[in-house]
Amino acid sequence: GCESSLSITVVGASGDLAKKKIFPALFALYYEDCLPKHFTIYGYARSKMTDAELRIMVSKTLTCRIDKRENCGEKMDQFLKRCFYYSGHYDSQDNFAELDKKMKEHEGGRISNRLFYLSVPPNIFVDAVRCASLTASSGNGWTRVIVEKPFGRDSESSAALTKDLKQFLSEDQIFRIDHYLGKELVENLSVLRFSNLIFEPLWSRQYIRNVQLIFSEDFGTEGRGGYFDNYGIIRDIMQNHLLQILALFAMETPVSLDAEDIRNEKVKVVRSMRPIQLDDVVIGQYKSHKKGGVTYPAYTDDMTVPKDSLTPTFAAAALFIDNARWDGVPFLMKAGKALHNKSAEIRVQFRHVPGNLYNRNFGTDLDRATNELVIRVQPDEAVYLKINNKVPGLGMRLDRSNLNLHYAARYSKEIPDAYERLLLDAIEGERRLFIRSDELDAAWAIFTPVLKELEEKQIIPEYYPYGSRGPVGAHYLAARYNVRWGDLS
Ligand code: BG6
Repeated sequence: GCESSLSITVVGASGDLAKKKIFPALFALYYEDCLPKHFTIYGYARSKMTDAELRIMVSKTLTCRIDKRENCGEKMDQFLKRCFYYSGHYDSQDNFAELDKKMKEHEGGRISNRLFYLSVPPNIFVDAVRCASLTASSGNGWTRVIVEKPFGRDSESSAALTKDLKQFLSEDQIFRIDHYLGKELVENLSVLRFSNLIFEPLWSRQYIRNVQLIFSEDFGTEGRGGYFDNYGIIRDIMQNHLLQILALFAMETPVSLDAEDIRNEKVKVVRSMRPIQLDDVVIGQYKSHKKGGVTYPAYTDDMTVPKDSLTPTFAAAALFIDNARWDGVPFLMKAGKALHNKSAEIRVQFRHVPGNLYNRNFGTDLDRATNELVIRVQPDEAVYLKINNKVPGLGMRLDRSNLNLHYAARYSKEIPDAYERLLLDAIEGERRLFIRSDELDAAWAIFTPVLKELEEKQIIPEYYPYGSRGPVGAHYLAARYNVRWGDLS
């Protein structure tokens, strides 16, 4: 028959991402019966390891998302039996040819579909892609490669990388991951907007005053400084995760939900954005802070970071979309490590009600009377809308309260990890949530000039204490556009 088999190779199998995200996501898909009947998983890396050792390593990170799930242990054992390890160099065609042989044995003459997940450092990326692309799937099967950022560090290096990859793979075979697109509430953004009459008509400069995209983590680089120092927070979070959310938020209505229709609209809106001006950026870096007898380290205390590094661990920026829908609306981004909390959210602040009859009931601070829609991507997923409401009683006092959709209260099923959805999509050939090369070019065009300027002028970051709310410069930037950060007010 024409039964097919799926081989998934995790290149860079002993790395952090593989252990923390990729293997657990593959197991979750297996647990949910989302993987085809004939599948095999290969871990590929340089270090020597046996199949048994790989299985032990993987088993340590597999968790059943819901405690005491049925058959979890049994399922884990079955899953682990389908995992194999192959030790080889990332640039060795011979080693990949041997892997190919191993795969063919497992495929047993079936149509072979092959998915490579490249979880390797950028300097060996192209070599690994070349070798992976040389292993041949047979019988009309497909070969797809999932790649992780960094996709270069500016327009030029990104274009060069794209060009190199396209020597070995067609655009159709390349799945550029931005794991934020796999998050439940980011996917929900389009549903919220396009299938609710109360939102879609308001989605423009006419009703929206500003939009805020906020990312914060309550831990520092913690040993990942070697990678991070070469990139910084703007490349690590803003140019990809936050910009992708912004594109989905602000795009025009796509012709359909097909991948190309959506990606066409995303690239259009990103191309309508102005490159960011130096004036519209604030950068920060965390410094050591002592709290409750504990000393939290400075960024430059990370052993893998140069002592005189100016790399930003925090940034705030104002972006503008020069089109009819969004002319003049500030889109403010803020991203930082070692802040006071861990959170990712989208805040939509609406305009004042013209001629509001109740203005005098708000005192002098009319900004507190505007509606705000908050989409909390994580943690504790929620969508809530701040509305004005009369405080019950004989007087006339107004109060801003929340209409609240709190996922944990509304839905009993656990939310899948972003990597589960993205891996499943790659297996099914669904490209909607992956980044097309023209989208990537457009994204770099907005950030490259300001990144160069920051680096050439050696702009000193504003230092903020580990665990704080970040540099005050972020407030001044927002204030210049008459904006108050919703997460802090
Ligand atoms: C990664 C960044 O892309 O996203 C990390 O490189 C960051 O620096 C991570 O910690 C955050 O992802 P999540 O899903 O934990 O919010």
